[in-house]
Amino acid sequence: MLHTPVLVDEVVRFLMTGREGTYIDGTVGTGGHAEAILEAGGEGITLVGIDRDPKALAAAAERLESFGGRVRLVRGNFSDISKHMAGENCEGALLDLGISSLQIADGDRGFSYLEDGPLDMAMGPDDGDVQALLDTVSERALAGIIHEYGEARRNRAIAREIVRERSGGRIERTARLRAAIEKAAPPRDAVSTLARVFQALRIWANRELEALTAFLPEALELCTPGGRLVLISYHSLEDRIVKRFFKAEEKGCTCPSDFPECVCGKQPRLRVLTRRPVVPGEEEISENPRARSARLRAAERLA
Ligand SMILES: C[S@@+](CC[C@H](N)C(=O)[O-])C[C@H]1O[C@@H](n2cnc3c(N)ncnc32)[C@H](O)[C@@H]1O
Repeated sequence: MLHTPVLVDEVVRFLMTGREGTYIDGTVGTGGHAEAILEAGGEGITLVGIDRDPKALAAAAERLESFGGRVRLVRGNFSDISKHMAGENCEGALLDLGISSLQIADGDRGFSYLEDGPLDMAMGPDDGDVQALLDTVSERALAGIIHEYGEARRNRAIAREIVRERSGGRIERTARLRAAIEKAAPPRDAVSTLARVFQALRIWANRELEALTAFLPEALELCTPGGRLVLISYHSLEDRIVKRFFKAEEKGCTCPSDFPECVCGKQPRLRVLTRRPVVPGEEEISENPRARSARLRAAERLA
């Protein structure tokens, strides 16, 4: 099964500089965006594709085989981008965050509340799993995770219900977790609450926000002047991190306004190319409902 990439034309338009060089796809998944980048860039470009999930990389390797030596695939975390690039600069870097359809559809990985499966949700072999969390977490800490990473209402009641369920025996399957969440979810919002709580546990287990926060300054450092950063996020927590980073890096001097002259010496390092996030049109959403929440932001590295 291949994942349908979102906003493909927009990714190509904002990412490609028209120059030769190396592009990073830090979330190569099943290779849809990577393929479009390689086709648009032609013979003069190479691509480094990273994913923490070995199954995704295997799918990408098959899809990108015809590009031969122009592709280097790396299993690892995009938060270690400088290490993966080993001193090489890039013309542009893309992240298409979250999980792929390949991962959601595999019930044995526990990402979906629609499939019964083990409480795993680890994106790759180096990542934490939800089972370890649910075995030991306190009610208070769980309520905090559901609030912070899922922005779910009734977080305390949901945490209480999960901990009560656990007192009757270890929760080992997504179906039992789902039933506990449904007991405490607001009745009219049961589906979105399930999605938010599963999202919260996944983000926690895979340290997703920490990875994004680590990636952004490193990727900017690796970009040549004129190089591009393109980020696609699927919820406000990720989008906020990207927006704040862009805002901080497009700003020059941060000295207080009553200083007679600048003492901080800070120079703007980015030009933001998308004042508002770019979102998919109705046609794309009707063909690929997963695109519904996608928001793309792009920026260009200054000298
Ligand atoms: C939405 S999918 C990307 C799909 C891809 N653009 C395509 O066209 O097939 C996100 C992918 O990023 C990977 N991923 C998420 N966080 C990661 C991280 N911190 N480091 C490396 N890969 C990550 C996931 O394993 C998943 O395969």
